[in-house]
Amino acid sequence: MSRIVRPRVFVTRQLPGEALGRLGGEVDLRVWEGELPPSRNELLAEAAHAEGLVTLLTDRVDAELLARAPGLRAVSNVAVGYDNIDVRACTDRRIPVGNTPGVLTETTADFAFALLMGLSRRVAEADAFVRAGKWRTWSPTLLLGTDIHGATLGIVGLGAIGAAVARRARGFGMRVLYVSRQPRKDLEAELGARRVDKRTLLAESDVVSLHVPLSAETRHWLGRAELAAMKPGALLVNTARGGVVDQDALIEALREGRLGGAALDVMDPEPLPADSPLMTLPNVLLAPHIASASHATRGRMASMAVDNLLAALEGRRPPHCVNP
Ligand code: DGY
Repeated sequence: MSRIVRPRVFVTRQLPGEALGRLGGEVDLRVWEGELPPSRNELLAEAAHAEGLVTLLTDRVDAELLARAPGLRAVSNVAVGYDNIDVRACTDRRIPVGNTPGVLTETTADFAFALLMGLSRRVAEADAFVRAGKWRTWSPTLLLGTDIHGATLGIVGLGAIGAAVARRARGFGMRVLYVSRQPRKDLEAELGARRVDKRTLLAESDVVSLHVPLSAETRHWLGRAELAAMKPGALLVNTARGGVVDQDALIEALREGRLGGAALDVMDPEPLPADSPLMTLPNVLLAPHIASASHATRGRMASMAVDNLLAALEGRRPPHCVNP
């Protein structure tokens, strides 16, 4: 970038890999060094002087922030999801917003499957059991779980990640149903996946796995009525966004034993408060939003976010841009 005054960029956390080193060679870089995200006031103060922001899903970029950031020209989110960003407000200001699709698809699908298997075969409970010194003998009734082979998986949202989960499911001998705005005939042919309506998916799936972005349309997609319509004893896996599920209704369904269990990488809010009933329910497997957290994938996400940001600062459309 041949500018004498280099654009000021604020990155809201240290990122893994080489990407920030590359960015530092191009811009006047300030990186938030805290383990926790900048507070709202700290973010607003930094944004006020920034031409570019590299954000995470913990950082809200909304009309208020934009109003206080007159020089802002680029926002690059290190995530495929961008529900933390008011894209319409950015578009009104002609600020491109980048995201990181593709590079995290397989890693996220791996983790969705890890959660599915961990929940159905009670892996975390088994580990705690052994460590607590409770293992006294082999027992025919110890820690019985649910078979995944031969079970029906209901995928909500057959985008890239949903499709990657469906492929894994076929390898495990599962029957795959899906709901999606668009039919995916290619995947129906490849995987034998069947597109059904919401009610059928809920009624027939032994496991429901969520893969839709959070939007006004998908908030509480799985609400009280939908939970009641699920097959008794079914399992829920959520690696999408906590807000896709009505968490209070989920807790009720788990407490009453209508649902067999839930494996949640995402919750509402995050981090999950220590006094949330989810913390104490036995049939729940919890993870701290780490589905994309492999060394390689997080490095690629950071690199892609830097590419997006630099393109926008140079006045080009970022390679992965979510503005219409
Ligand atoms: C995303 O990318 O949206 C994930 O939630 C974090 O990797």
